[in-house]
Amino acid sequence: MNILTLILSYLTGSISFALVIGKIFYKKDIRNFGSGNLGATNAYRVLGVKAGLIVAVADILKGTFACLLPLILGSSVHPILCGLLAILGHIFSVFARFKGGKAVATATGVFLFFTPLGVFVAFVIFVLTLLLTKYVSLSSMLASVSLIGYSLLFEDKVIIALSLLISVSIIILHRQNIKRLLNGTESKIVDRQ
Ligand code: G3P
Repeated sequence: MNILTLILSYLTGSISFALVIGKIFYKKDIRNFGSGNLGATNAYRVLGVKAGLIVAVADILKGTFACLLPLILGSSVHPILCGLLAILGHIFSVFARFKGGKAVATATGVFLFFTPLGVFVAFVIFVLTLLLTKYVSLSSMLASVSLIGYSLLFEDKVIIALSLLISVSIIILHRQNIKRLLNGTESKIVDRQ
C-alpha cells in the first residue's frame, strides 16, 4: 500500500491540467505559446481567465489531494513525502515528457494541508505584489519567501525545512523569469496573447 501511495502521489502531481484543458477545450498546446510553462499563469495568458482560474484551482487541489492519499488509502507514508512527490510530478510530469510547471499552485495545495495560515499570509503577499507590479512571477517568488519567513516564526523544524526546500526550488524554477525581470522583458498579468 505504501508503494501505491507514493506512485499515486507522483501520478496525481503529473496530471497537467494546463495541458489537458488547453488541448481538449481550446485545441492548443500551451507549451508552444506564451512562456511555454505548464501552469495557471500561462493558461491564463494563452487561453483566458476561465482556463487560468480552473488550472490554478485544479493544480492547488491536486497538491492537497496528494497529501490526503495516506489517509484515503490507509497507508503509513508521511503526507510530506506525498506532497513532495506531487510537486515533483508537476515539475517533471510523466505525461508531458518530464516537463511541467513551476509548482506554485501545487505547492500552495501542499502547504494548505500543513500550514493554512502560512498560505494565507503568502497569498496576501502574492496579491499585494501583483497589484503593485502586475508580475505573477515576482509575486510567486515573494510569496514563497514570505512562507519561509512565516515558517521560521511560527512552524516546527519539519515545516521550516519543507518551506525552504520548496520555496528555493520555486525560485530556481523561475530563473528565466528573473532574467526577464532584470532585462525588462517579463510579461505582466495584463499582457495576454
Ligand atoms: O507560477 C508560475 C508563474 O509564477 C510564472 O509563470 O508563465 O509567467 O513563467 P510564467
